[in-house]
Amino acid sequence: MAEQGLMDKLVSLSKRRGFVFQSSEIYGGLGSVWDYGPLGVELKRAVKERWWQAMVHARDDIEGLDAAILMHPKVWEASGHVSGFTDPLVDCKQCKNRFRADDPAIKGTPGTPDAQCPVCGTKGSLTEPRLFNLMFKTFMGPVEESAAVVYLRPETAQGIYVNYLNVLQASRQKVPFGIAQIGKAFRNEITPGNFIFRTREFEQMEMQFFVKPGTDQEWFERWRDWRMAWYHDLGLTPAKLRWHEHTPKELAHYARAAQDIEYEFPFGWNEIEGVHNRTDFDLKAHQEYSGKKLEYFDQAANERYIPYIIETSAGADRVALTVMVNAYREEEVKGEKRVVLGLHPALAPIKAAVFPLVNKDGMPELAERVYRDLQRVMPAFYDASGAVGRRYRRMDEAGTPYCITIDGQTTDDQTVTIRDRDTMEQERVALDRVVGWVREKV
Ligand code: GAP
Repeated sequence: MAEQGLMDKLVSLSKRRGFVFQSSEIYGGLGSVWDYGPLGVELKRAVKERWWQAMVHARDDIEGLDAAILMHPKVWEASGHVSGFTDPLVDCKQCKNRFRADDPAIKGTPGTPDAQCPVCGTKGSLTEPRLFNLMFKTFMGPVEESAAVVYLRPETAQGIYVNYLNVLQASRQKVPFGIAQIGKAFRNEITPGNFIFRTREFEQMEMQFFVKPGTDQEWFERWRDWRMAWYHDLGLTPAKLRWHEHTPKELAHYARAAQDIEYEFPFGWNEIEGVHNRTDFDLKAHQEYSGKKLEYFDQAANERYIPYIIETSAGADRVALTVMVNAYREEEVKGEKRVVLGLHPALAPIKAAVFPLVNKDGMPELAERVYRDLQRVMPAFYDASGAVGRRYRRMDEAGTPYCITIDGQTTDDQTVTIRDRDTMEQERVALDRVVGWVREKV
């Protein structure tokens, strides 16, 4: 399958089956903003729930948090975002398009006569690079003046840093411990794209782990291993995952070490999560800007220090996209094309679909009973319309791992067929065992 073709097919399947829609589509859409439909919202929720389970519920040393999107504007001065969260941009004076200065499509050096606009082709029309801040700005209260400026957060991490003492005191944790948060973040990206890979509004799943200085590199290594294992457990193909270590030039202003987990997308290897050793940069900066002491007192050792922070930062939308790309496949079955989303059953938006083979002979009543029993314990779907083959195909595209059909034999021997999405094999299972059978599998 041509690789860009795969992305186009995924975008079209997403719309057809209700995973992802373009935002404000009836108005022509809004650039790089997307909405999640009935199946997409379940998939993204499943990704987030698995992350929360692994990072918060399964551990004694991590607490959860849900900080507000709007924060005191000084937070973003302390974090370095006001001065440093920028991209160099150039404008074309001829066609008025705007590009990142390092856009490989630009020929020549912007600001000089030889530079050529990649859209209109005019020579010498590109301005010198200017720095453009990626934070969305708005105003708090009725007056639109500089004193009222607030930002939509570009990362969730800062909400954790400014609450670190609150959580520490309320939870009675001791260093080393972590705080995890899932929430929206906003960036006025200049070159967004590739569907939901890089968008202007997205969700992050971030965890900040506070450690004693000197133990930071050890914790960094541990978190690296745990996070990669999480993606393997999610069912991603291990050969499509790798580490990318940041070179000194790539390192963010706050980081001592940074490694990205990358996935091989149809458009190339790209980051899905970053693991960073942020040192004491953030807490020191917030201590300085707020004037509040953010030291930790280690009673056992009778010493005070500002903890170092190991951060794991993933995008929920990006992971959802990765899971879909990894799961998409086309097969030929009896001369016909079959599209399958081979999602891990734990992530599948619908776990089981129930079909009466025909709408008579008591089959719909029995099917409805099975459906209601399933619905009590898992997301299930009832479909009585069209040929059963067509119903299977719809569920294959939705990623539903099991389809249960009530047929003529059911009324005779109280058994149903359960069809496996991946092998397409069918098994007969007793009617009263269906819920337990599916539950065990998913
Ligand atoms: N707190 C650190 C931080 O925000 P980042 O590398 O800028 O680091 C972390 O972002 C993760 O957030 C990325 O690996 C990616 O999964 C997700 N992410 C960042 N920008 C995004 C965007 N514009 N659209 C979708 N996801 C994004």
